[in-house]
Amino acid sequence: MERAYYVTTPIYYISGNPHIGHAYTTIVADVLARTARTFGPTFFLTGTDEHGQKVANAAAAAGKTPQEWCDELVPRWKALFAAYHVEYDDFIRTTEPRHVEKVLRVFERLRERGDVYLGKYEGWYCVSDETFWLESKLVNGRCPTCGREVQWISEDDWFFRLSAYRDRLIEHFERNPGWVQPRSVYNEMMAILREGLDDLSISRTSFDWGVPIPEGGVIYVWLDALLNYITAIGWSEDDAFFHRYWPAQTQLVGKEIARFHTIIWPAILWALGEAAPELVFAHGWITVDGQKMSKSLDNAVDPFLLADRFGADAMRYFLLREAPFGSDFSYSEEKIAQRRNSDLANDLGNLLQRTLSMLARYRDGIVPERGAHRGGLGERFASLPIMVRERILELRFREALESIWELVTTLNKTIDERKPWELHKAARTEDLNAVLYDLCEGLRWLAMLLHPFMPERMSEMWEQLGAPGRIDEDWASALGAWGGLPPATQTALSGPLFPKIEFETVAST
Ligand code: MSP
Repeated sequence: MERAYYVTTPIYYISGNPHIGHAYTTIVADVLARTARTFGPTFFLTGTDEHGQKVANAAAAAGKTPQEWCDELVPRWKALFAAYHVEYDDFIRTTEPRHVEKVLRVFERLRERGDVYLGKYEGWYCVSDETFWLESKLVNGRCPTCGREVQWISEDDWFFRLSAYRDRLIEHFERNPGWVQPRSVYNEMMAILREGLDDLSISRTSFDWGVPIPEGGVIYVWLDALLNYITAIGWSEDDAFFHRYWPAQTQLVGKEIARFHTIIWPAILWALGEAAPELVFAHGWITVDGQKMSKSLDNAVDPFLLADRFGADAMRYFLLREAPFGSDFSYSEEKIAQRRNSDLANDLGNLLQRTLSMLARYRDGIVPERGAHRGGLGERFASLPIMVRERILELRFREALESIWELVTTLNKTIDERKPWELHKAARTEDLNAVLYDLCEGLRWLAMLLHPFMPERMSEMWEQLGAPGRIDEDWASALGAWGGLPPATQTALSGPLFPKIEFETVAST
């Protein structure tokens, strides 16, 4: 079977309402998946992490059973992704039977292999991060990741022989220096490996909201959660199908959970006889006043309000354009408004508006013949689609958008320099046709290349242009050479794509 492009997001704890940070990773995955789909089979997985103490506590505080709580919250997460035009191929919930039964199967396999043994865990635990901590790792007695209080636990637990995989992990890191990105995270993980690894407790006995182990206790929520990436694609059921997707090309995570995905996860996969993912990319945080945006720090911004206020596509654009992917960036509504007004309303929206209104005025809205006069745009931008695709798949989204913007700028300059209104006045029919044609063709290219970033607005642009075919076709064949837009195409100017907005503050949740 042909290999598919497989991209995943973390599965989100449903201990409360989602915020824009949660939408962020899923939007990024959607841009990747939409791009990959234009040229081949693709699978995009997201979902919710529903077991564990954190979710159980949230349910108890709301006076519900954990299952009731999860069932009520999941639709909010799905609504969030829909509001941001995310088209995932599957949404996995860790409470679904298709997942639960395979988690237990994994546990049994690890036990059969001798990778699991019974021992005693005594140490600290951070409920918010669902993480075990050694005393020596705490910072001022608190969780080194989130700074919250930790609790002392003392239990008879099952342990996974993580320490036995240390040498193989180091070798894997050394042989595949690009497998964890960005480099700063790779280095951090290498430092952890060099320091040494302890075995990992993979069960809990003091509470019961998890996948039950026949002898008692439940599977540790992180083992349960990581397995979603393989249970969703048929691990242990249909090998040919499974290996069409696994190993995943791209696993996106926030940097705070890089250790789980680059140290624990490959070791578990190897214990199961499977390969490590090709790439784990640990991106930075959306921050507020220098701190990670998070529900519990009470600085979270309601993503639904943001989509209403700024438009889902403008938000998507902002999130991918504002900072290089990987770095932290500070949340600012002023910056979102600025991006929308300058890049989207002025540069792009006006370009469409000006082009189609000139076309309406001078050519009854019909795309003219290209004529013999060719502006050279075709040659200049010939490699753009391939370059943009490469940059997106390398997760260099900002650079991809900057390259696309060169075409936007060039088209705007073409209008300013060639002055179609003067060509019209001077009755230079051929010259005017050539300019108008190039503008329409350029806009068609822009709609296609920007579609993964702004699916709704770009589909609208595509319609206004009257472009034939689908906007999500393979760029290489659809854009192949400049001149794919057939002359005599009827365009239909409608309202502005990105009306300018006044800036005002959106309340925090
Ligand atoms: N359930 C675990 C992940 C298990 S994956 C097998 C978890 N869930 S979480 O709800 O805390 O979500 C974490 C992810 O949400 C982060 O890794 C990141 O992808 C995203 N983000 C949460 N807050 C964020 C920001 N402030 N900024 C950017 N991304 C953020 O950890």
